[in-house]
This record gives sequence, structure tokens and C-alpha cells, in this order.
Amino acid sequence: MCGIIGYVGPQNAVPVLVEGLKKLEYRGYDSAGIAVIKEGQIQVKRVKGKIRDLEDCLKDSVLEGSCGLGHTRWATHGRPSEENAHPHRDCSGTLVVVHNGIIENYLPLREKLQAEGHTFVTETDTEVIAHLVERRFEGSLEEAVRKALPELQGAYAVAIISAGDPDKVVVAKSGPPAVVGLGKDEFFISSDINPILSHTSRVVFLEDREIAILERGGVRYVDFDGRPIGKTEDQLSWTPLMIEKKGFKHFMLKEIFEQPQVVRDTLQGRISQGSGKVYLDETGLDAVALQEIQRVVIIACGTSYHAGLVGKYFIESLALIPVAVEYASEFRYQDLMLDKKILVVVISQSGETADSLAALRATKKSGALTLAISNVVNSSIPREAGAVLYTHAGPEIGVAATKTFSAQLAALSLLALFLAQIKGRMDDESSLPIVQDLLRVPHQMERFLADSRRLEDLAQRFLVFSHFLYLGRWVSFPVALEGALKLKEISYVHAEGYAGGEMKHGPIALIDEKMPTLAVIPRDRAYDKMMSNISEVKARLGYVLAVAFDNDQEIARHVDEVIRVPSVNSLLSPFLTILPLQLFAYYVAARKGADVDQPRNLAKSVTVE
Ligand code: G6P
Repeated sequence: MCGIIGYVGPQNAVPVLVEGLKKLEYRGYDSAGIAVIKEGQIQVKRVKGKIRDLEDCLKDSVLEGSCGLGHTRWATHGRPSEENAHPHRDCSGTLVVVHNGIIENYLPLREKLQAEGHTFVTETDTEVIAHLVERRFEGSLEEAVRKALPELQGAYAVAIISAGDPDKVVVAKSGPPAVVGLGKDEFFISSDINPILSHTSRVVFLEDREIAILERGGVRYVDFDGRPIGKTEDQLSWTPLMIEKKGFKHFMLKEIFEQPQVVRDTLQGRISQGSGKVYLDETGLDAVALQEIQRVVIIACGTSYHAGLVGKYFIESLALIPVAVEYASEFRYQDLMLDKKILVVVISQSGETADSLAALRATKKSGALTLAISNVVNSSIPREAGAVLYTHAGPEIGVAATKTFSAQLAALSLLALFLAQIKGRMDDESSLPIVQDLLRVPHQMERFLADSRRLEDLAQRFLVFSHFLYLGRWVSFPVALEGALKLKEISYVHAEGYAGGEMKHGPIALIDEKMPTLAVIPRDRAYDKMMSNISEVKARLGYVLAVAFDNDQEIARHVDEVIRVPSVNSLLSPFLTILPLQLFAYYVAARKGADVDQPRNLAKSVTVE
């Protein structure tokens, strides 16, 4: 949710910042801007629109400087416009700030500053930061920033430069992420590692209440009280190639096709093919405490929430432990009945979603065990959870999550087997068949994807429809929810995901020949009941497109069209049935000419509550 970037070093900062912003653009893309310091002057360029609009605006400019900031915005306070785009200036225009987060007390601060004579020119919450720092500035930027911070309430990762203290970027973090890149005589600050990857693999993750001061000679770190702190350097394992499109038209399509490999990578090394035993020692889970677990609570948002719903079936079926799945944004307002016999699992691909992080923090005092499932090493949620199970999906750039969903399913299947083994609900012998089924899944996903071109033509035929119903039961219910989410996110077509059995309690009233139904109906324990739901749709002139197993001889006689996926153990069917739904959404959106990787109004990493 907004991306910030900063640079100090021997290069011209402008191309470094612009290239960096392109890699952060998935975080927000309604306006963008950069600022650089040259010969004691701060120059700012901002546009409403995307980074390519910023590039166009920079074509005829002579902007350059060896120290600068950049920002790509997802509007919270103030509509998307050039004035509201970051960087924001103080009264004198000699100091600018970029910010990711929300300043909750900006209105009283603004009134106070205006009463003192400060002039505001934007509708944003961020502008108060520039004026607060200006007010405290006496020659040292870091001192001014440090003195201004106690006045701010809310969440922020801010980066600030000043012509009065040039060749220096000061960064402060309280909430949203900020990572420092350590190059050779050049230093970077960014909201995530993607822009840094092409320059260096050495990074330092800032914690809350920490300030980094980037200068030509190196980086210093202090806490909010000004005390110097030692920070540990991390070595990145992701490579720049991982954030290329590799010949695919969109990142989303590339990421859909990467799914077999990410499932393989997430399972690898954690499961014994021979014995069926699952090893999750690396996670830091306390095996003794886990034996006492009586309940699991899964907390997440968006696609991760849907993965959590699938995880509920995995854990309940295999480990026989009851599971509740909660939206992170709602969980915090509940009366939390947690204790040390409960395992709280927070799923977040980015590891930075503000609602999920806040929910995790809310569980802390209860004594409950906490586990993060995340794709981003050292992001906030993994850092704060008691244990971490990382998915190995590599960077996901498409805003609509696809490969991280499959990787989360892989992680949750491992967790379910692990809990089953720890609690003695499954031994090696009873685990082996499902483990073998699980290990075959990536190959079956590959088989489906290799022969999936038909989905493109199929999608073409559905472009005329404005409403879709997605139905599934049991383990396919979350798949229906996720399929519908994908379609609405990227193609702006209304799609409703529903539990097959619930359809008769409402959505059935919507069904007619103008509202097709996508029915997810693998051969499983809910098959016959789902078949009845399909008949109810057909009886009302509804068109039914079914996602079914390739060995299902029956289905074609009951529906209008079938998309077949390789048959698997029915518990594991979401790994397969989600693939055609992702591709269907992708091709509908692509054919409509939608901005698939950066759908309107969305952001990949939502760091505001
Ligand atoms: C945003 C993204 C979704 C994602 C959700 C949760 O809304 O657009 O794709 O599923 O956040 O993100 P997380 O990083 O916590 O999994």
C-alpha cells in the first residue's frame, strides 16, 4: 500500500528511483513522484497516474542528483491527483517526504501547524510530516525527524531528504515495512526488496521505532530515542530474474504457470517420500506444546483467507483438530477466547498486511502458540510470530494472488500432516498414501497447464456476461470463493462465490440465462449433493460450466460444458480445481483489455487497516 524508495550514491538517482518504482508499482498505482537534490535545490516531479506517466513527464526534464526519493501511491487521504502525489514539501520547499501508512492524528496536527503559520497545499495526511520536521530542523535532518516523530500517531514508513542537510536520506519505521539495501558506496531504502535486488543482495530490515540514516559513507541506525543500534545484515536469496515476465504477456499468467514448481519447492525437504513423515523443525514450532493443542484458529485476508478455509478441511480431516478461520479485520473486534492450547496460524503472503499483523499482535498476551505462513522472509508477520512456515513461491508481482495461494495450500497440507503425526492421529503408515498423493500433485498440475489453451477460447465466449455464480461444497467451497474473487478483482465482472448448499437460500433467485454458474465438482463426498444443486440451476435455465475430474463419466450429461482436471485424492483437489478458475479469470480480463497485473483500486500489500 504505497511504495517508497530512496537512494544515496554515485549514480544519477533519477533512473534508479524510476526503475525501483516500477518494481514497487504493484503496491499502489494511482499517482507517483520523485524528488532529487542538486546543488542545494530540491527538484520534484509528480504525476497522477502510473510510473509510465511519470517516465513520460521526466523525458523532457533535466532532473538529476545523487540523492533522492520516490513514491508510488495508493490513495487513502486525498483523491489521486498531482498535488496529492508524494513527495510532499514543507513550506520552504527545501525538505520533502515520502510516506507509506496513515497518520491518524493528522487533522489536529494540521490545525496546530496552520495556527503556527504553516501553509498546506494538499489534502493528504502525509504533508503534516514535512511541516513537523521543518519545525524541528536546526541543521541535522535526523535530529529533526527524531524530534518530530513523537507527535505522530498511526502507521508510517517515512523517508525524508533536505537541501539543508544534503546527501542524506533519513528513514523512520513504525508499522509498514522498510528495508535498507547496502551496495558498494551506494545505499537504498525501499518498501520491499524487489527494487534492491538488481543492485545488491545485502539488506537490513528495519524494526519498528528504528531510524536509518543513509549517507555516502554508509548507513547508521538509531532508535527513536537517538541511541545507536547494531543491525544484522541479511543476504537475499531471490534473484532479479525472478521478477521478470519471462516471455509471458502478464506476470499473473507467468505466476499461474509457475504453480507446479512452487508447490514442489514448498514441499521439498519437509516430507519423507519413503516414510511419509513431515519435518517442520525449521519453523520453530514447539512439538511438546503442540501435542496439547485442542483448537486451531486461522487468520488471514483475501486470497490467504481462502487458502485458510482449505486448510481447515486439511487439518480437520487429517489431524482431527477443530479449526476456525477468521478474517483478520474482524478477528480483532471479537472476544478472543484464546489460551496456550490453541494454535493461531496467521497466513499472509506479503507478511505485511496491517489487519493480519494487528490480529497477530492481539493474540500475543493470550499465551496461544502462533505460527506465520508467509512468502516473504523476515517480513513483519514472520518476525513477530512464535514460529514461521515459509512458502517458497518466489516474488509474486501480479496483484491478484495465484502462485502464493497454491504455495499456501502446500504449506497447510504439511501443517495438517505434521499436526496429525504429532498428535498421534496418523502414523507413518497411515500418512504414506496421502503423502504420496500430495507429492504427485505438482506433476498433475503441470499436466493440466500444458493443455490449458482451450480456456482462452472458452473465456472469449463468456465476455458477454456481467454476472457469474461460483459454487462448490466441502473443500471446493473455498475454491469457488477464490475463483469468484479472481474474476472480480481483475476483470471487474460481478462474481459471487457461494457454498453449493446455500444457493437455494438466496442466490437461486438470481439465476436465469444471463447468469452462468461455474460449478466446482470433483468426485468427493459432496459430489451427489452438488449434482442436485446443479440440477436446481439447470431447472431455472441457468448455464452450467463444471470443473470436474477427468475420470468423471457422469458429469457431461448434467451440465453445459466441462473443464476437466486430473483426478487426485479429493482432499487435495483444490490444487487442481483452482487452476482453470484462475485461467478463466485471466483470459476474461485479458480479452477485455483490463490491466491484469494492476487492477484498479487494489494493491498487493495492504499496510493500512
Ligand atoms: C490484498 C491483495 C490480495 C491478498 C490480500 C492479503 O488485498 O490484493 O491479493 O490476498 O491483500 O494479502 P497477504 O499478503 O496478507 O496474503
